Parts: sequence; structure tokens; C-alpha cells
Amino acid sequence: MFTHSDLTTAIQAGFHALLIMEAGNRPIGIFDSGVGGLTVAHAIRQNLPGERIVYFGDTAHLPYGDKSEEAIRSYSGRITRFLLEHDAKLVLIACNSASASAYESLEAEYRDRVLILDVINPVVKYVASRNYRRIGVIGTKRTISSGTYEKKIGAASPSTELASMATPLLVPMIEEGFIFDDISNAIIRTYLSDARLADISALILGCTHYPIIKNQISKFFNFDVEIIDSGRLVAGLLRETLEKNDLLNRNGSGEDLFFVSDYTDYFEKIARMFFESNINLQKADIWH
Ligand code: DGL
Repeated sequence: MFTHSDLTTAIQAGFHALLIMEAGNRPIGIFDSGVGGLTVAHAIRQNLPGERIVYFGDTAHLPYGDKSEEAIRSYSGRITRFLLEHDAKLVLIACNSASASAYESLEAEYRDRVLILDVINPVVKYVASRNYRRIGVIGTKRTISSGTYEKKIGAASPSTELASMATPLLVPMIEEGFIFDDISNAIIRTYLSDARLADISALILGCTHYPIIKNQISKFFNFDVEIIDSGRLVAGLLRETLEKNDLLNRNGSGEDLFFVSDYTDYFEKIARMFFESNINLQKADIWH
């Protein structure tokens, strides 16, 4: 025979399980200045196929790499609110420039409402688990001048020497669709032959746009240098975080949503390349 208290406990447990299921069904909010974050979103789709994604590409403000820290913080705050309006259970800053400029401030402001992850900390954690002597990082002017990789790797892996270099032409080059041609080859070769990158055993792609040209970068180094791309590492940490917080989507996937602040054909083309199916792309003019 069930007692009244058994029934109450069972109802409470059922209700709790329902709440967890509902929380898990909510999407993961992901943002970047443009198509770069799609490389991370794609890794998440492959590693966590049950999760739903709401993506925001701030194409109206692209590139972030030459904006001030204050500007990037303010864009990131507004985008985080937009993702919360879309019921995000976690916000992933899929942009190194925004991770370097805004992660701490977003964490401080939104920690009570939503989980926040960035793309730099998972890479730092990975580097600390390897025993590299000398590695390189390339990224936007904002990311490199912030010194975030130096500070974090210096603290987590003090014996690793880090050579950092800004490669500001790569984002506009990729966003303009110059990927497999003479222009992209010449730019990639000019940057990567810099003496600062001599004698490295690994190179961190410190910008989420760069995995799009990962093969060309590997080829430049004769496939001899490990290319560290944050996608898989971020997906791993995301899974751990969702599991720890009982937020994994156990119900299978729903529809992914993609928003841009300014519509470009190129965004749609790259999004279709990564997500194959007919993606649901909308313009969200959140700046007016
Ligand atoms: N994908 C970005 C990053 O990781 C943005 C680059 C940009 O807009 O300049 O830094």
C-alpha cells in the first residue's frame, strides 16, 4: 500500500524529472561576429546531436577583431539577452575576440540566469594537458592584443613558450569567400612564414573563422605541426557542463534557428555547407 507521503515523494520526483526534461529541451545559444562560430556549432552538432541550436551571427558589426573591447562587450551583452529571449539554457561565446573581451563581464552579469562558456578556456585546458615546449597562436588584433592566451596559458602551463601573432586579413578574406585560391594562398603563406612561428610543434587557431582554412594551414606546415581547433574541445566541455547541470537534451533534436544582424548570401552558403539541410535563417535587427 502506498502511503500519502510515498505518493507525495513520487509526485515530487516526477515533477522534478519533468522540470529537468523541459530545461534540457531548451536550445544552446551560440554567437559570433559572422560565420566563424558555425565551425563550433558544427562540432556541437556532430558531438551532441540531440541538442538544439540558436545561432546569432553579428554580421552588421563584423569584423569584431578590430573593434574596441567596450564595443565588443556591449554587442555581446545585447546578443546574450537576445539568446535568453529565445530561451537558451547556455550561451556559448563562439568567438575568440568576444571571449577575450567579454567572457568575464558576461559571466559576472548573467551567471544567475544562464550558463556561459567561451572558446578560449577549453583550449587552455587542453594545452595544459600536453607538454608542449613551444607553440603558436594566431588570431584577430583584438584577441592577440588582449594577451588572454598568454595570461591563461602562462598560468596553466608555465613551461610552454607561446608565440602569438595577429593575422587580421584572414577573417575578411574568409568572409569574402577567398578560401582555396591564389589570394588566400598568398595571404596564408605570408603570415605563416613569419619568423615568430618558426620551431613550433602546435598552432592554436585563435579565431573560430580559421578552421575553415585549416587544411591550407596544415599543408603550409607540411602536416608536421598540430593544428589546435577549439570546436571538438568546446563540444567536450559543453557536454560535461550540460551533464553536470542536468541539462542534456534527452528528447532528441528540434529545429535549429540561425539569425544574422545583416543578411549576406555568404553566411547562408556557409551555414548550408555546415548544416546541409535547409537551414532556417532569419534577419534579426536587434540594433534598432
Ligand atoms: N570568429 C571571431 C573570432 O574568433 C571573429 C573575428 C572577427 O570578427 O574579427 O575572433
